[in-house]
Parts: sequence; C-alpha cells; structure tokens
Amino acid sequence: MKIKYTHYIAIYLLLLASSAFAAKMPMPADAPASYEAECASCHMAYPPGLLSEQSWKNVMSSLSKHFGTDASVDQKTQAELTAWLVKNATTRQKYKETAPDNRITKTAWFIRKHDEIRPEVWKRAGIKSPANCGACHIDAANGIFSENNIKIPTK
Ligand code: HEC
Ligand code: HEC
Repeated sequence: MKIKYTHYIAIYLLLLASSAFAAKMPMPADAPASYEAECASCHMAYPPGLLSEQSWKNVMSSLSKHFGTDASVDQKTQAELTAWLVKNATTRQKYKETAPDNRITKTAWFIRKHDEIRPEVWKRAGIKSPANCGACHIDAANGIFSENNIKIPTK
C-alpha cells in the first residue's frame, strides 16, 4: 500500500494529541470536597484520569489496607468518591490497564515514561517515592505533567 504524505501529517497530529493528553490531566471541576479532605493529606490528590475504572474500584474497596496505612472513609463518602473517580477515570485505551498493586506508578505507561530515571534518583530525600509526583512535576497539583514543567531535585 502506498502511504500518502497527508497520512504522515495525520499520524503526526495523532501523536501530538496523545502526548498532550499525557502531559495534562487537570482535576475535574466537579471534584467533591471529600476528595481533597480524605485523599490529599498523605499525598497529592491524584487526578482521576491517571487510573482506569477498575483500578479506582480496587483502590476504593481496599482503603482499610492502603499501602501500609488505614485510609478508610465512612460509607457515604466511600460511595460518593468511588462514583466520582469511576466517572472521571481514563477513557483512553493506552491508559486502561488495571494498575498492578493499585499503583499508577506500576502501570506500563508510567514505567515507560519514566524509564530514563535511574533507580537511585527515586530514593533522593527530596523525592522519596515515585508516587510523590509533585517532587519533580512542579505543576502536578494543577494536573500538568508536561516535560517543560519538570525539575528533578538534585538531592
Ligand atoms: C493515611 C494516609 C493516606 C490517606 C488518607 C490516603 N492515602 Fe493513598 N497512599 C498512602 C500511602 C502511604 C501510599 C504509598 C505512597 C508511596 O508509595 O510513596 C498511597 C498511595 C496511593 C496510590 C498509589 C500511588 C502510586 O504509587 O501510584 C493511590 C492511587 C492512592 N494512594 C489513592 C488514595 C485515595 C483515592 C485516597 C482517599 C480515599 C487516599 N489515597 C488516601 C497513604 C494515604
Ligand atoms: C523523579 C522525578 C519524577 C517523579 C517523582 C515523577 N515523575 Fe513523571 N516524569 C518525570 C520525567 C523526567 C519525565 C519524562 C519527561 C520527558 O522527557 O518526556 C516524566 C514524564 C511523565 C509523564 C509524561 C509527560 C509527557 O509529556 O508525556 C506523565 C504523565 C508523568 N510523568 C506523570 C507522573 C505522575 C502521575 C507521577 C506521580 C505518580 C510522576 N510522574 C512522578 C519525572 C518524575
């Protein structure tokens, strides 16, 4: 099959669109107050678009055993948050995998996007964990993960 020049342009635009999506995952405007209150005291309020529906269900149904801590919420809040997270979960096929160990940081796309970071860098005092997005993505709180908004702490 002969590929026309216009096809290259279309593919280029597609690639551009997908990388722009990866770089920007703003918090939906309808975030319930309970998300900030219950899910942002130990780490940032992760934008729901970072995980799939099933992954959020898994996170929300295991809050009493949440990465070595108890992050339980009352039943009403649990239902409210689960519904909102599921509604705003990623719809993009390439981010749709069920996250291993309920971790964004163990998804294939996360590992691929961060494969240039040496293992010892993650352990620096100013970073501590891959889950600490805001240590490097200086505008993570606004859902901006673009490569122009990264500053990796040197220690
Ligand atoms: C009592 C503290 C605490 C609260 C409250 C809490 N978490 Fe966490 N959460 C943690 C810890 C600790 C980790 C593991 C962080 C690490 O590995 O550096 C974590 C990790 C996560 C991760 C995986 C991060 C990764 O590695 O990709 C998700 C998703 C998550 N939390 C969602 C939530 C949600 C949703 C809520 C609210 C219902 C919540 N958390 C409330 C302590 C908490
Ligand atoms: C040690 C610093 C560091 C931490 C911590 C970190 N990242 Fe990154 N992130 C990077 C670097 C470096 C890149 C690669 C930028 C590039 O060259 O495209 C990247 C790339 C990305 C991209 C792709 C951006 C694009 O333009 O395609 C996303 C999305 C992303 N990170 C999300 C996250 C999330 C979500 C977390 C927390 C769960 C996180 N990162 C934690 C350093 C970090």
